[in-house]
Amino acid sequence: MNAHYSTSSFGRDCKIQKALKKIFGFDSFRTLLQESAVKEVVKGENDVFICMPTGAGKSLCYQLPAVLAIGITIVISPLIALIQDQVDHLLVLKIKVCSLNSKLTIQERKKILIDLQSEKPQIKLLYITPEMAASVSFQPTLNSLLNRNLLSYLIIDEAHCVSQWGHDFRPDYLRLGSLRSHIPQTPCIALTATATKQVQDDIIDSLKLKQPVAMFKTSCFRSNLFYDVQFKELLTDPYGNLNDFCLKALGEKNSTGGYTGCGIVYCRTRDACEEVAFQLSFRGLKAKAYHAGLKTADRTTIQNEWMEEVVPVIVATISFGMGVDKANVRFVAHWNIAKSMAGYYQESGRAGRDGKNSSCRLYYSRNDRDQISFFIKRDMAKRQGKRGSLKTYDKASMVGFEVMVNFCEQLECRHAAIARYFGDEKPLCNKSCDCCLNPGGVNKQLDLLQSLTDRGKTCIRAAEVSQGPFGNDPELYDGGRKGYGFARYDEDCDGDDEEASEHRKKEWNQFYQQQMKLRKGTELEKKEFIPPEPFCPLKDASSQKIPKLTVKAREHCLKILEEALSSNLQKDGAASRWRRSTKPPKLALCTQYWDQGLVSPQQQMRNHLPWKKTSSLHPSCIRLNPSGLVLDIEGFVDSFRLLLNC
Ligand SMILES: Nc1ncnc2c1ncn2[C@@H]1O[C@H](COP(=O)(O)OP(=O)(O)OP(=O)(O)O)[C@@H](O)[C@H]1O
Ligand SMILES: [Mg+2]
Ligand SMILES: [Zn+2]
Repeated sequence: MNAHYSTSSFGRDCKIQKALKKIFGFDSFRTLLQESAVKEVVKGENDVFICMPTGAGKSLCYQLPAVLAIGITIVISPLIALIQDQVDHLLVLKIKVCSLNSKLTIQERKKILIDLQSEKPQIKLLYITPEMAASVSFQPTLNSLLNRNLLSYLIIDEAHCVSQWGHDFRPDYLRLGSLRSHIPQTPCIALTATATKQVQDDIIDSLKLKQPVAMFKTSCFRSNLFYDVQFKELLTDPYGNLNDFCLKALGEKNSTGGYTGCGIVYCRTRDACEEVAFQLSFRGLKAKAYHAGLKTADRTTIQNEWMEEVVPVIVATISFGMGVDKANVRFVAHWNIAKSMAGYYQESGRAGRDGKNSSCRLYYSRNDRDQISFFIKRDMAKRQGKRGSLKTYDKASMVGFEVMVNFCEQLECRHAAIARYFGDEKPLCNKSCDCCLNPGGVNKQLDLLQSLTDRGKTCIRAAEVSQGPFGNDPELYDGGRKGYGFARYDEDCDGDDEEASEHRKKEWNQFYQQQMKLRKGTELEKKEFIPPEPFCPLKDASSQKIPKLTVKAREHCLKILEEALSSNLQKDGAASRWRRSTKPPKLALCTQYWDQGLVSPQQQMRNHLPWKKTSSLHPSCIRLNPSGLVLDIEGFVDSFRLLLNC
């Protein structure tokens, strides 16, 4: 018995059409390529490589064949969140699908395994992560399916993760090559939206796809997307510009007062997300920040509000959007330059999935460029220091970034630049980008940018990059929090993260052991608390690597700070100007700015510059009770600086 659907070619085509309508609810295939790919996969004779733009409908190319096949299809996908979206979507269609992952309860897991072991399993698609595929516990299930000839297909979604030249390289994807060798008779289907020739070759090699591989590849060109770049340093009011862009892209409001579409603004840091969301809301456009620093429940609420268009604009780190299949995204703006062209293409490609005209704008700044390039180089140097040599992946991140910089700084059709990167023919842009629509205007902007740089106004040399008062930038790439199911897309797997994660693990273990002792009633050893010196260098508090900065020490300093604040308050009755309107948490960050020499609190007040929220403060920073304590700003700053010895 073959695990695939086998009948005559005509009968097969009829079954495919029927399933397309009856099960998936589509009248026709989206494109001829989608149709041919589905038919090829259903035949089950060859390994297949599918590269189609984001939102082109790649999933159907394996989901429909999986439903028609006799056996079970295993789908490897990089993120649990992404898997969950696919599973939910298929369950709505009443397709028997499930996912084996670490978040299941024992009971749920048992139920799935019983079905998979049964003579006639009900499950048609089984979604797993690459880690699960390689795990020892999964091997008996895999072997059992294989021995009973019940394995229909091995699907590798987001296959670019296998390539060190891809923008989301995942070492675990490399292990899929041995999985593939273990099941050579099962057709393997690799799918991606972003594959240069190099990445494509890597996928075919690493996944050991059998030649001849059936290739289904379309141009990456999306004619409904209008691309443009704005130069932040040349804008007098960047937030106003962003606001206008969002409003224009969202179009007219409908009869109920809402917009018919929505948009995404991507920012590099959580802090920037908060700021941009604030700035848009301040200008009357409903926008909410979404990042890993928020509680899971808050993130879910915000995502739902955006999905339902209650909040039309979501301002997010790049963790947001994977697996979110929303058709009417009218714009994607990048408030900061993307880290690679492939990443930018995928992120901006979340616009206009319904085929309607949509806009993609990138706000470019040379400060940004220099900062990112500084951090990429620093990471490369660190890796080189550790390993003695640079790996492909290290170099790839710099190369990918340089392509992105050229994209912004060259007068070339944006679509053509993207197409060249992916090795496609130059597309017919038809004025769907700023360079084709108004080359003179873009050229003028580029000249202006250059003249600013020549006068030394914009370009921060890498070595001079401000690292903040705490000596590092924990917010870069969104901090690298693990365990949220979307770590891949907003963190760099560099040494820092490994160390930080080790450190967190140790802290957690200690905490856990203490709690267990408490539960057992065991006396904890009483450690004598030695308060830190009055001038201890607390300013390094944002670094996770300070070994001696305990919770107790922080509480101690907080107490001193609170005392200093209230004595200031009593002392300086004349500071009423700022009373009631100024809250300590905001001021806390204000001093951070001042320390960086960026702007003084007074300037900030005078210019009515917006306050930042304390969410940007690192957890180990001192947090003040936001009780609305009224205080004199200079006194506050003095006491704060005194305390922090800076
Ligand atoms: N033949 C079709 N007719 C109408 N809609 C379709 C068809 N095929 C797929 N779609 C819809 O297109 C949308 C995008 O499909 P899908 O999620 O498979 O995209 P994708 O190519 O995997 O994109 P990404 O690279 O972002 O993962 C889905 O909402 C899907 O239901
Ligand atoms: Mg997909
Ligand atoms: Zn163009």
